Amino acid sequence: MDNELRLQYLETMGIDVWLSRTSVPLAPVPVPEIVLDHSDLTPAPDSWSLLEAEVANCQKCSLCTTRKNTVFGSGNQQADWMIVGEGPGQHEDEQGLPFVGNAGGLLTEMLRAISLTREDVFIANVIKCRPPNNRDPHAEEIEHCSDYLYRQQQLIQPKMILALGRIAAQTLLRTNEPLVKLRGKVHTFNNTPVVVAYHPAYLLRFLPEKSKAWLDLSFALHTFTKLEGDL
Ligand code: URA
Repeated sequence: MDNELRLQYLETMGIDVWLSRTSVPLAPVPVPEIVLDHSDLTPAPDSWSLLEAEVANCQKCSLCTTRKNTVFGSGNQQADWMIVGEGPGQHEDEQGLPFVGNAGGLLTEMLRAISLTREDVFIANVIKCRPPNNRDPHAEEIEHCSDYLYRQQQLIQPKMILALGRIAAQTLLRTNEPLVKLRGKVHTFNNTPVVVAYHPAYLLRFLPEKSKAWLDLSFALHTFTKLEGDL
């Protein structure tokens, strides 16, 4: 009986047949083609539309349950000046725009004092949703939101940041120093010069401090002009 027929019988009878490696040529095993995918290693470039959509749909903290609108920020996306406030109040929450209430009116005047309009600058806030009853934002709310501010700064690449009030200044500069100690100095955030000024809402409450606002703005303008001259 030839060997092939014998194997067929054995197979039919359900008997496993072991073949020596030498007797049967091994069929080539197909090697799967390996395609290297770097998409998870290289971060996708950021864009305004991506960032705006992320902010609009943000649910990173509980402020998303009480907000009417997120307040992304507004103005010139290629601005030399980026203005950073604290967070939306009632009017901003209702309209989805920054600094549209009384403090916003004063901010417009403060900008005018240094020959800027709201269209010249980009206005953003540390947090993008209104804290209930205008309370100070909590540390974890600031932490969740600060990535958005960082990305806004990266997209704008402003020459100068004007931080309005304690929360904006302390967040950008990652410090607990009081505002009085931070005014009148040039700090940096991501290699961008930062000057600190009183918040317009504070100035509205303490009118005598308005003259100090002028000092802050003059210092900011002086710093900006000097930086431009040094370039
Ligand atoms: N105060 C802020 O800090 N930001 C606003 O947008 C409005 C008031």
